[in-house]
Amino acid sequence: MKPQHVLPYVFAEPIRTDRLTLRLMTEADVDDIHSYQSREDVCRYLLFESRSRDEVAAKVAQHAAATTLAADGDYLQLALELPASGDTPARVIGDSYFTLASLENSKGEIGWTLHPDFVGHGYASEAARAVLAIAFERIGLHRVVAELDPRNDASIALCKRLGMREEAYFVKDLWFRGDWGDTGMYAILREEWIARG
Ligand SMILES: CC(C)(COP(=O)(O)OP(=O)(O)OC[C@H]1O[C@@H](n2cnc3c(N)ncnc32)[C@H](O)[C@@H]1OP(=O)(O)O)[C@@H](O)C(=O)NCCC(=O)NCCS
Repeated sequence: MKPQHVLPYVFAEPIRTDRLTLRLMTEADVDDIHSYQSREDVCRYLLFESRSRDEVAAKVAQHAAATTLAADGDYLQLALELPASGDTPARVIGDSYFTLASLENSKGEIGWTLHPDFVGHGYASEAARAVLAIAFERIGLHRVVAELDPRNDASIALCKRLGMREEAYFVKDLWFRGDWGDTGMYAILREEWIARG
């Protein structure tokens, strides 16, 4: 049966997970976000190269205004905030991406980035689960995919941790930094997400 989507989905208030707050980006986040988006190691497998502070500021302004999912191409780029603890102030440690890829095919696409200092603690998967809950439980999508560089072992491990399976391996389908690159496609269906509890 064709799924009924509950749309528009408006990101009206922050989402709290066990350890993180997912929220819209603000101008005050530019330094935190620049601290990882400026790093070549972070951007190695991303579709953009390391960004200057001005480039990050422009993107943050753009993402801050992207609050509503209603049509193909609409997206959320949410800041992952680690709350203050003792003398350590709250800070943005990464971001989560989600887009409505095709309403006709009830498909969303997910993505993730963390500051390297915060990799290895399960923060990206914790945030991704909150985003998949929006996709499947709030909006009612049928399928969510992740596209990645097949050399990106950390991202592949994250897909598998979330219950996504490898569905395709496209050979030299992408012109990437002066050469042909491959693309891996991972996916999870709504019924699989629900079955995982
Ligand atoms: C891809 C990326 C987000 C993965 O980050 P990550 O921290 O490895 O992913 P997770 O949040 O799922 O964390 C899993 C790791 O935390 C560990 N961990 C520790 N505490 C944990 C907890 N409470 N829950 C879950 N995992 C935990 C896991 O054992 C695992 O460690 P391992 O890699 O040594 O096996 C990160 O490598 C990154 O930002 N890369 C650069 C940007 C990028 O390439 N993005 C993807 C483009 S497609």
